[in-house]
Amino acid sequence: MQQFVPLMRSTTIRILCSLVLLISLTDAQTMTIAQRVDSLLRLMTLDEKVGQLNQYTDDGVATGPVTLDKDKPQQVKQGKLGSILNVLGGERTRSWQKIAMQSRLRIPLLFGQDVVHGYKTTFPIPLAEACSWDLEAMERAARIAAVEASAGGVHWTFAPMVDISRDPRWGRVMEGAGEDTYLGSQIAAARVRGFQGKGIGQTDAVMACVKHFAAYGAAVGGRDYNSVDMSDRMLWETYLPPFKAALDAGAGTFMNSFNDLNGIPATGNSYLMRDILKGKWNFSGFVVSDWGSVGEMINHGSVKDPADAARSAILAGCDMDMESRCYTGTLAKLVTDGVVPMAVVDDAVRRILTKKFELGLFDDPYRFCDPKREAKALNEPAHAAAARDMARKSIVLLKNEKNILPISKGTKTIAFIGPLVKAVKQNKGFWDVELPGVDSNFIVTQWEGLQEKIGKHSTLLYAKGCEIEGNDRSGFAEAVETAKKADVVILSIGERRDMSGEAKSRSDLSIPGVQVELAMELLKTGKPVVVLINAGRPLVFNELADAAPAILYTWWLGSEAGNAIADVLFGDYNPSAKLAMTFPRSVGQIPIYYNYYNTGRPATGDNDRFYRSAYIDLSIHPRYEFGYGLGYSPFTYSGLKLSVGSMSMTGTIQASVTITNAGKYAGEEVVQLYLRDLVGSIIRPMKELKDFRKIALAPGESKTITFTIDKEKLSFYDQHVQWVAEPGEFELMIGASSRDIRQKERFTLTK
Ligand code: BGC
Repeated sequence: MQQFVPLMRSTTIRILCSLVLLISLTDAQTMTIAQRVDSLLRLMTLDEKVGQLNQYTDDGVATGPVTLDKDKPQQVKQGKLGSILNVLGGERTRSWQKIAMQSRLRIPLLFGQDVVHGYKTTFPIPLAEACSWDLEAMERAARIAAVEASAGGVHWTFAPMVDISRDPRWGRVMEGAGEDTYLGSQIAAARVRGFQGKGIGQTDAVMACVKHFAAYGAAVGGRDYNSVDMSDRMLWETYLPPFKAALDAGAGTFMNSFNDLNGIPATGNSYLMRDILKGKWNFSGFVVSDWGSVGEMINHGSVKDPADAARSAILAGCDMDMESRCYTGTLAKLVTDGVVPMAVVDDAVRRILTKKFELGLFDDPYRFCDPKREAKALNEPAHAAAARDMARKSIVLLKNEKNILPISKGTKTIAFIGPLVKAVKQNKGFWDVELPGVDSNFIVTQWEGLQEKIGKHSTLLYAKGCEIEGNDRSGFAEAVETAKKADVVILSIGERRDMSGEAKSRSDLSIPGVQVELAMELLKTGKPVVVLINAGRPLVFNELADAAPAILYTWWLGSEAGNAIADVLFGDYNPSAKLAMTFPRSVGQIPIYYNYYNTGRPATGDNDRFYRSAYIDLSIHPRYEFGYGLGYSPFTYSGLKLSVGSMSMTGTIQASVTITNAGKYAGEEVVQLYLRDLVGSIIRPMKELKDFRKIALAPGESKTITFTIDKEKLSFYDQHVQWVAEPGEFELMIGASSRDIRQKERFTLTK
């Protein structure tokens, strides 16, 4: 127990403080957290309660529109703040906590931060990681982020983002796990497990915050912050399951979202927060608003002023107000006026205090800012090794004509060309953490990675060629001359790292500037050209996709980008990633996703006269489909066997299939299981991913894997939004992508 501040004048305060002391001294042994919370709640004034529901950003890097406020320390002392976000580093968190310890009840502050894909060690952007389909690796990445962040004083990360999205115009697809509900749910759970480790309260864990609740990824036109209009069935079937999976994995908190859902802003949406999350799902943690989203309900037009916004949000179940400052100043009066019941405020405060107790902050408010632990955690070589592993697992090989990859280590001269070759910070992608005192040398650039890989055996030439944006072609000639001197050309092009991310919707998804033109010039030299595309979302690059012999989609890979890319280019790692999001042929093809309905006029090919809701000027297929990705070895699929041809509602079917590595490189294959319910009371998608396995095979090796089909995998939401399985025939498909189905069989579900 810390010392009390000496300024206790009134007897009442003295009595109250003695009570807190007493509670704190006896509590650990004798009282449950619920009892400790209740005792504390009884001591709190209404203003102090409202204070706990209030979160501001620190004065440094902001992640939204800032309200200038010189008075924050004073407000903390007065118990008017429950949490601060964007407080970076152990020292800074400690200094804020010291101020909180001068408040009357000495309730510790909660420090939140967007630790989205790493803290000091930057891992690949989440969408890239999702393409690894490697749940263990993703859990490890989140674990390491938690170890580093928690040592730097962070208690709480605003991650994972689990919004399903079928629209790459939306810049925030980079933060999620792509378009698929099943894969997204598995990844959501893995990330929560990683962040929270052995549990909230461990000093190496950070509390997860699942966001954005809900349906934010379906914003109309892919425009950020935009409206969402969708059926309840679609909401339950496609958009909610990853949230539920994260909740089941133990996620401590949720964040609501900027969008409205069917006309009601998510921040004031009691159907989402009260009925579903805290009702049906029995969520016992707390909900934080998105940045300013409580106040933004005024712009939405659902409330008239800040007080009305506070009323709407708190009644709907939004416990904490991030930066909109609507709760502070209005909520207490709403309670005294009888507009908001005290019980509603008490419930919100109770939820927040419970997390603070679970985190152990009442026993030691500084337990997460330990300089020794911080220094160690931020300089741990194993973290870089894990980041390298995660990064190479995230690189998708889109094309490899004539097996020009992997590049032979004996290659004499290699030209490494493009605006991203020597770029440093770009490799971090959006939502990196800018730590004070940590410079960007921590990143292995693509140039450094390659140099390190080839050592003195080859000569590495460089030309920039052009910038990411703009139409300056003056570097083309030098780039072409450089390419001509080389045996192999590697070209690194793409988006700027901050072209994808929050508020980064794009209507044009082409590779910016004159980069594709540069690629075409290099291809004219006749040299083998390997193209690396760095981006935060699926881009459209048909001309390049047709012309370039080899393409690696590298996304943004983080601290170890250079090493990971070099590992893949030279075959020290055989690429195994598969797209977690469909790549369209043009922006006009969006939204595009693999699990569409057949419709009444299904197209069988591009020349059908009456197309399935397709375009007369475009193939019916996307450029690259969900689940697609090549490796250096082909894998063959054979011998699909179902244990029985029909199953009852309580039964199961085992589907086994043999996978063989038919190439000369050891590698991993993501074996994907899709199901189709052929006839349903609600029409069912052409296929839905229901399971997958990532297996490693040596050259020539075969493995038989078995999937179990049960009722759960065959269920869906019916017309009344009830989770049901209907008897009938199903098609089971096993393949290397959603389009490349290698084996299929039918079976029946009986009553
Ligand atoms: C984003 C959230 C983020 C928050 C805090 C908002 O603008 O939408 O995802 O957690 O800022 O940085």
